[in-house]
Formats: sequence, structure tokens, C-alpha cells
Amino acid sequence: MHIIYQDETKIFHLYNDNVSYIMKVLPNGHLGQLYFGRRINADKDYSYLLEMMSRPMASYLLDDEKLFSLEHIRQEYGVYGTTDFRRPAVEILQENGSRISDFRFQDYSIAYGKPELEGLPATYTETPEEAVTLIVRLKDLVSDIRLELLYTVFETGAIARSAKFINEGKEAVHLLTAMSLCLDLPDSGYDWVQFSGAWSRERHVKIRRLEQGIQAVESMRGHSSHEHNPFLVLKRPSADEFQGETIGFSLVYSGNFLAQAQVDTQDTTRILLGINPSCFDWKLETGESFQTPEAVMVYSLEGMNGMSRIFHKLYGKRLARGYWRDKARPILINNWEATYFDFTKERLLEIAKKAKECGVELFVLDDGWFGQRSHERAGLGDWVANPERLPDGIKGLAEKIEGLGMQFGLWFEPEMVNKDSDLYREHPDWIIETPGRHSSHGRFQYVLDFSRKEVVDRIYGMMEKILEGAKVSYVKWDMNRSITECYSASLPSDRQGEVFHRYILGVYDLYSRLTAKFPKVLFESCASGGGRFDPGMLYYAPQGWASDDTDAAERLKIQYGTSFCYPISSIGSHVSVVPNHQVYRNTPLHTRANVAFFGTFGYELDLNKLTGEEQEQVKEQIRFMKEYREVLQFGNFYRLCSPFEGNVAAWISVNEEQTVAVAGWYRILSGANMPYTRIKLQGLKEEYRYKIEGRDGYYFGDELMNVGLITTDYTSGEGAVSEGYAGDFDSRIFVLTAVKETQ
Ligand code: GLA
Repeated sequence: MHIIYQDETKIFHLYNDNVSYIMKVLPNGHLGQLYFGRRINADKDYSYLLEMMSRPMASYLLDDEKLFSLEHIRQEYGVYGTTDFRRPAVEILQENGSRISDFRFQDYSIAYGKPELEGLPATYTETPEEAVTLIVRLKDLVSDIRLELLYTVFETGAIARSAKFINEGKEAVHLLTAMSLCLDLPDSGYDWVQFSGAWSRERHVKIRRLEQGIQAVESMRGHSSHEHNPFLVLKRPSADEFQGETIGFSLVYSGNFLAQAQVDTQDTTRILLGINPSCFDWKLETGESFQTPEAVMVYSLEGMNGMSRIFHKLYGKRLARGYWRDKARPILINNWEATYFDFTKERLLEIAKKAKECGVELFVLDDGWFGQRSHERAGLGDWVANPERLPDGIKGLAEKIEGLGMQFGLWFEPEMVNKDSDLYREHPDWIIETPGRHSSHGRFQYVLDFSRKEVVDRIYGMMEKILEGAKVSYVKWDMNRSITECYSASLPSDRQGEVFHRYILGVYDLYSRLTAKFPKVLFESCASGGGRFDPGMLYYAPQGWASDDTDAAERLKIQYGTSFCYPISSIGSHVSVVPNHQVYRNTPLHTRANVAFFGTFGYELDLNKLTGEEQEQVKEQIRFMKEYREVLQFGNFYRLCSPFEGNVAAWISVNEEQTVAVAGWYRILSGANMPYTRIKLQGLKEEYRYKIEGRDGYYFGDELMNVGLITTDYTSGEGAVSEGYAGDFDSRIFVLTAVKETQ
């Protein structure tokens, strides 16, 4: 991977073996976009790609010609109002009321490696050779604001981008729009793919043709949200999971975002990705700077699976960090659905003992252990153990669990407070609310003003005390409501537009301090399930609870959708009871586990309540997961068949050496006299012979990938029932192992 700059042509060419990204300093000094796509020769002047032409109704920038109009030029960081009328990447309100800006090229620097983004989560390198970074410096000569555009090309082909504003002028300005990424593409022949839903049905795949006009997904809830994810894919209509041109855009951010495509009537496409300009207004005083979050673009000719594998590598290895990044994740049991708020120490120990007997490694105590928290109206904010429920405190319980031979984990919801809590009684002014207005609640809780350092400090102090005082190996960090009446009592009126972003910076600050102080604690992020499942969180917590919905059929869709951007090791997935608590559906135990295997794996139930036969099945599931979790969580993952398109879903994880693979096959509804079915596998070595557990003989890799693997070879009718495979919501796991002597 390289970045070159040709002085004569003023062209930057960023490339690796697969991808080229080409920009040019335009005649007015702005930075223009020439090409983003498959790698092309670097030794060439591509200036002819600048579309300079005269059109009726166009406005022109240069006095003596009718050719150069920003309306028809592709730009790197578009501005509005000086011949371009599209939505801008930047809008700055200046003292005289003007919003025009004019960022002109000054200079640039290129260096191996990647600088950190202060206070923000971002991708990183471990050695400088993994990536090369270009910083292009531009300046608005009227306001004296400097703009630095940062581009990092990773070996893998991913390109990370962000922007930084520095006020070198004499007046304060207001940043009203400061996107992380602006990409102008020369045509609009794409499908737009978004990942949307709601609580309990997060990240469902929605595909439609890109059309003239604006299409967007966004959040204005104060967190990235269940409703939309800060991730967007454009693919050619002929591209699918396995082939074809696909571009993924992901924002490393957990707050309000906007992901937008604007197709103009000349059919060019502008992508914008960044902090949502709605509700955003950042005052930049003289001498201050503002760093946008990072956006990551991935270009693939190997379809959506190809794109996903690049994201998985980058986000699994160079966004997630710390002790747990590369480690197989512990199999856990969580008491929430087993007890809700209704537990005693004895009850918890019963659950833990049975779990240990079945092979579980980590016991997680969920909501209800602190303050007066025996229902949802009280206790949030008081992070001290409830002595009535836990007479020996967290320390005593943790020791008991450790004594059983398991690790101990604990739930927190650090950003929230109930009005019925000591913290609220002491600091009623610490919640986010607007003076003189009604304060709305969510689940009877209020959001603490994390834009204030003293609030974050206080919560840190309480959490630190718990984590220092007991052997806690895992923290589930929850966040269960959106922000309303957004306003901070600590900021002046002209800074209220900063609160949403400052809040998220406060969340990141608390995460940074806790992960630095307790580097071996495994953090799992959660927000009523997947309400803040985003790359920003992944930087601090290497796994996230994907959804409160643990029904196997629903989970197939949620995990399938999540896998487009996020690595399997990051997807929190558990087995729960039937009828399921979210959709009241009955699915077989083997299918619940077969879905949860493609994630971090665990149980969300009281194993004592299962039959002896089911408990034996659980033991076998745990044995299986322990044997294959490295492949499942860190292997190359391929989606094979989409639950959004039909009755069957399938996927496979293959280890790096292509010697071990685990495939999952799932059928939603059964039918009468059903056809034979096969799935074509992916990721195997063509010439290797593979043994398939439970089947005679062997199969070549090319055979399994072209002919396919038969998935319906078991007896039908009553025979299948007795074998445990029949009826609705059936599924199977296939383990493939390369036969050594033939490699
Ligand atoms: C949220 C989480 C659940 C559970 C409850 C506890 O809904 O997503 O997993 O922790 O809170 O209140």
C-alpha cells in the first residue's frame, strides 16, 4: 500500500494491491475526487476525469470561463453555496452570519502508521507497515479555519477517514456540519443496503435501488440506535454475496449519526457519513480544534461477503483492543431471564452450580444487585451492593462463584439514574433535562449528564470501588433509554448544540478509564440489546449483546444482518428458554444453540429447570463450543443463504489454514414431502479432502463448493423425529476437517 503525490498534476493516488483512491487539487484549491475502485496504474495523469463543462443554469467559480462549476465536480469535502447546491460535508456559521467556506489546499504529509484520534475510538496499527496515512491541510482564508483531512490506507484495502478543524482566526465560529466522510461517485447504478429495525429486531437487511433525491438513515436518539446502524452498503445490482462491486461505509461512533446518499439529476452520487448535523452546533473558539469521528470505507469486488471479511479483520484486530481481543470468549450464564429482579443469593448459587456442572465458565449477575433496585423504578445510580439481597456483598458472591470454579461477571448501567436513588437525591441537577420543560422518562429512568466531568468522575469512583473490591472478570455495560429534552445545565446557551456529542465523549472517557484500570476485565456493551451495537463501542468492549431477542428464528436474521459489518467474535448470542420471552415461540434446543454458536455463546436461563435429557444436550453443546469456538469466532466467515430471502439460512466459518470449518444450516418451516436440499459452501481449499463429522468417506473442497453439501440426508417422517431432526425451526451443524495425509 502506498500514497503518492504528483506535484505537476497535483494528484494524490492512494492504493494497495486491490484498490485505488485518487484525488486532485482543483483549480480553486479545493480537493476533488477522481476515482475510487479497483486498483489502476499509479503512473498516469488522471486529470481528464475532472468534469469541466458548460451547462445551462450552472454557476461558475472562475471569472473568465464557463467550465468550472462545483455543481458538476466531484469533491472530497463538499461545501454548499459556492456553485454546489448539494448537501455539504461542512457548514460553518461565522460571526457575520455567513455560512460560506472555501477550504484551499496548503500542504500535505505522508507517514507510515496511523495517528490516534484524541478522545475518540478509532482503528489503529500495531506496526507502522500495516498502514500509511495522508494528511491534507486546507485553509479558509477568510475565517482562518484550518481543515485537516486524514486518510489511512490499510494493507487490507480499508480506508479510514476523518476531518479536524482548527480555529486559527480571531473570532469564534460554530461548526454546524462536520462530516467524517464525503464521497462523490460518478454514477448512481447501485443498490442501497441498510441495516434497520427496532428493539428485538435489530439490523434487518433492507435493499432498494438508489434513486435521484436523498436517501438516508440516521439516529437522533443520543445513541446509534436499534432503529438504524451507522453502516451502509452500496452494491452494483448484479453484485451479490459472492461477487461484484460492493462498497461498505461504517462510522466509528456511538451517538447521533447521519448516513446519506444524494443522487443528483445528473446521476452522480454523494455519500455523507458522520455526526448528524441535526441537533449539532459546536462552538469553536480561537485556538480550539474539533476532531470528527472516523469513518471507514471498504471496496470489494468479491461481493458483500468479500467486503464483510475486510471489515471483520479490521474491526476484530485493529479496532477491538486489549486482553480479550484475540482470545476465545468464555461461555457464560446470565440470570436475567431466569430470575429478572426476583432473586436471592441462594437462588443465584443454585443457577451457578448447575451451570458449572454443565461446563459454563462465567456466571453473570444482571440487573437488581445494587441500591434499592428490586424493581425498575429505583436504584439506578447507586452502585453499591444491596445488603439484604447480598449480605456478603459482591465480594462474597464473587468468592463463592470463583469457589465453584467459575468466573464472576456483573451488570452496570452507568449512564442512568432513577429519581428514587441516593445519587438523584444528592444531585437532582445531574440529569439531562431542559429548564422549564417537562422531563420525560424511559423505563422510569433519566440520563445522567455525561457531558460533565464531575458526573463521569463520580460514576467512575463507584464502579472502580466495586471492581477493585471483588474479583469481577466481566462487566455488562447496559444503556436502556434514549435522550430526550437534551440540555446541559453546565453549558451556556450557545453551546447547547454540543451536548449530544459531549455526552458520547463522556461515555468514551469512562470506558477508557475503566478499561485502562482493569485491562483484564471483559467488557460487553449492551443497550436494551442492540441499541448501541456500533464500531465505537467495539473499541472499548470487544463484544456486544446483539439483541434482547433470543428466539432462534429471530436471531438468525439479527446475527445475519449484524455480520455484514461486525466480526462474529463481537456478537453476543445466548440460548434461552421456550416459549421464548420476546416472541413466545417454541424452537428446539439444538436450533437455539446452533444459532448462538456463531457468536460469543452462553445461556440466559436456569439450567435446573431443564429436563435431565436437555441438560445432557447442554453439556454436549458446551463441549462442542469449547472445541470449535476459535474457528467460529475468529475464522473467515461467509454468509451462504439469507434468512431474509427464504425459508432456509446458512453460513460457515473456516479457520485461516482452511483445515477446519463449521457450517450452520437452518430451516424455518417444515413442509410435506420436501425436496432434497444442498448448500454450496465457501472458503474451503479446493484440493483438500474434508471429512464431515457423522458421514462416511470424504469430500473435496471444490466438490463442496460447487456441487454442494446435502443437508437433508436424514430420514424423513417419524424416523427424523426420533433422530431429533424434524418439524419447524430445524437446523444442523456440519463440522468439516481436512484429512491430514492429503494436504
Ligand atoms: C436490558 C438488557 C437486558 C437486561 C435488562 C436488565 O434490557 O438488554 O439484557 O440486562 O436490561 O434490566
